[in-house]
Amino acid sequence: MIILKTKNEIEKIRTASKYAMEILLYLRDFIKEGIKTMELERLCEDKLRRYNRKIRPAFKGYNGYPYCLCISLNDEVVHGMPDDRILKNGDIVSLDFGVEYEGFFGDVALTEGVGDISEEAKRLLKITEESLYKGIDEAKEGNRLNDISHAIQSHVESAGFSVVREFVGHGIGSNLHEEPQVPNFGEKGKGIRLKKGMVFAIEPMVNMGKSEVYIKENGWTAATLDGSLSAHFEHTIAITDKGTEILSKL
Ligand code: MF3
Ligand code: CO
Repeated sequence: MIILKTKNEIEKIRTASKYAMEILLYLRDFIKEGIKTMELERLCEDKLRRYNRKIRPAFKGYNGYPYCLCISLNDEVVHGMPDDRILKNGDIVSLDFGVEYEGFFGDVALTEGVGDISEEAKRLLKITEESLYKGIDEAKEGNRLNDISHAIQSHVESAGFSVVREFVGHGIGSNLHEEPQVPNFGEKGKGIRLKKGMVFAIEPMVNMGKSEVYIKENGWTAATLDGSLSAHFEHTIAITDKGTEILSKL
């Protein structure tokens, strides 16, 4: 069942999403050669402590996930875990972060390069972020759900990259994950009709090589099967009277 949100609920999701993005951008500045990924987790916890007690990290404890952040390096696609690995020049780092505020959730992600990254890696980041905005542009009243999916997929594939199929965007509200699933691939004109009050986390995960992924030994982290780099960008958006609003935009 898709839960439509009231104005008031959307404002709470907006607050959660803005906090999430604010903290994500704060953390992005620490992505530098020499820092441990666990240090980013610690910085995130410190930052949360300095905010009012009204915000809570959404991922920590979700299905037993132990951290506030997901940090996915290089060939890791999503659900990477903070650990003792040290960032080095040329790495790409995906940070994924969610917040709960007054019972409502916001979910955001971005990928950032460490130092000098290859031209092809730069292009991967650029195309992935662009594909997110192409998807958001299609998230409007009267369109179909898979119009979003199709816009993402066609932008990615025409650049020669591939979209991950095992992980998808999602409805979001008083739960981190709600119906519907928002795949990053699909046929234009298919899927449910989009309505005012719908709120989605749209999150293309894009591989430089093939789309197949596998799950690492920790049972959480997805990585590309062919070892190619992967990027991830995510916003929380709503369809309202004003059109399409990016709730996580600062
Ligand atoms: N943005 C990711 C998702 O929607 C992050 C979830 S991490 C988890 O799946 F730990 F909460 F699962
Ligand atoms: Co998400």
